Amino acid sequence: MNSTFIQAMRRAALTFLYVFGIALFSTPALSQGDGGLVTRGAYLAKAGDCIACHSAPGGKPFAGGLPMATPMGRIYSTNITPDAKHGIGTYSEADFIRAVREGVAKDGHNLYPAMPYPSYAKVGDADMKALYAYFMRGVAPVAQPNIVSDIPWPLNMRWPLKFWNMVFLDKKPYESRPDKDASWNRGAYLVQGLGHCGACHTPRGIAFQEKASDDGGHAFLSGAAVDNWFASNLTGNTNTGLGRWSEEDLSVFLRTGANAHATAFGSMTDVINNSTQALSDVDSRAIAHYIKSLPAARAEEGPPWKPYKPNATDLKNTAGLLRRPAGHPGATIYTTYCLHCHGADGRGAAPWLAPLAGNPNVLEPNPLSLINVTLNGTRPLMIGGLQAAYPMPRYHPVLDDQQIADVLTFVRGNWNNRAPAVDAAEVTKLRKATAQP
Ligand code: HEC
Ligand code: HEC
Ligand code: HEC
Repeated sequence: MNSTFIQAMRRAALTFLYVFGIALFSTPALSQGDGGLVTRGAYLAKAGDCIACHSAPGGKPFAGGLPMATPMGRIYSTNITPDAKHGIGTYSEADFIRAVREGVAKDGHNLYPAMPYPSYAKVGDADMKALYAYFMRGVAPVAQPNIVSDIPWPLNMRWPLKFWNMVFLDKKPYESRPDKDASWNRGAYLVQGLGHCGACHTPRGIAFQEKASDDGGHAFLSGAAVDNWFASNLTGNTNTGLGRWSEEDLSVFLRTGANAHATAFGSMTDVINNSTQALSDVDSRAIAHYIKSLPAARAEEGPPWKPYKPNATDLKNTAGLLRRPAGHPGATIYTTYCLHCHGADGRGAAPWLAPLAGNPNVLEPNPLSLINVTLNGTRPLMIGGLQAAYPMPRYHPVLDDQQIADVLTFVRGNWNNRAPAVDAAEVTKLRKATAQP
């Protein structure tokens, strides 16, 4: 064999390696080499809704900078792109897993539990490896520095969090229950772990800890106030919970943000927009199967709501329907501002226009969500890239505090709804708390 032939072969081999190597390292998501690990990680990142907190409005994906309120002051989510200087580019797989499951950053400082690591602690090793692969190879690096928190000294010291973790952090990944079926276990794993549903829906104790981290605790997903919304009771209560929803209703809600009973709004809109609509049918049904197995967490508030059926006279005279209870100032406001969408019978036009008759959020004693959505409207649902057609308008500039209290009291007392009246003082408080800075 002559040397030119050998050289040519070498060059060909190098070219092959070079081209193949580039293909291997620059398009990891498509390479066969990782067995779809990056693609799998991308799906899990959706299930975990990492993007919701780790991106600021108008900012680059996962570059951080979203301000988050804590009882002690404002903190900012961090850059989790693979940028070596500002992001997590130098994190090893073990560093990453420790941060996400135990709330300890690479340099050893403790993360505030605003990062829902107490939920993510349940995520299994294989899923953590896929998430790491995605964040290292499927996310574009962004050179954006982190923002220091507004929490003043000495409250900004992070070492007390070590004690918090000792008391409240359960480091055990989810363990399948042999007495339950595969779908139930899959649902429990997603709800308690990546879905971190309890971070909003489970009430917190005095140390900001969730009062229960799984169905073993009574308070689990029983509803909680969070960021000026009330994250609904997801347990089996007939009036205020999901007792009247079927598994199918619930999985439709998670995939489309609406069903015959309700439409997503407030912080749940972000969960639907960024996360649950991307779940596979099997996974969204598993979540529904699991949640529907949770027994009612609270005593029922009054007798079960009965579907409202207007009688013949009511039907002939829409205004007559609305004048009951007679002379209520809220009825007049409802007719002027709300009736054309939510209907004289409060049934709306589900799934596009939320029903108010029998709606669990309307029957919930805590009126936070109702006041907030009437004051501030809501960011639109985006399903498959399409924006909701008739989002709830903002009545902040139109109705005063007493008028909002009146119309909501009317809504809460009509069409067989029996929920407590809304006090104008509560509207005043929320108007202040949600004022744009
Ligand atoms: C509810 C909001 C929220 C969600 C959801 C969330 N994070 Fe975080 N995360 C935070 C906050 C806030 C911090 C910074 C906490 C601090 O500075 O103490 C953080 C910090 C981190 C860190 C440490 C980064 C560093 O600067 O060293 C990593 C890694 C991380 N998150 C990964 C993830 C992953 C992966 C997901 C999705 C599975 C996720 N986060 C979802 C709020 C969130
Ligand atoms: C960031 C906070 C947050 C997280 C995380 C969150 N939710 Fe919600 N959720 C809310 C709020 C606030 C509401 C009330 C507004 C509404 O009904 O859309 C709500 C409402 C709901 C409703 C409608 C209940 C009703 O009676 O109308 C369902 C169902 C639901 N959430 C399921 C879930 C599931 C399942 C998860 C986890 C995969 C989850 N949520 C995670 C904040 C959250
Ligand atoms: C343009 C149509 C429209 C008008 C007018 C309107 N709404 Fe709504 N409303 C909606 C939609 C749509 C939703 C569901 C959330 C969303 O997708 O924006 C909603 C949600 C609500 C909810 C939460 C229901 C749930 O699912 O739990 C309440 C309470 C509410 N509206 C009260 C009112 C009141 C009170 C008025 C009048 C002052 C009013 N709405 C006027 C469209 C409207």
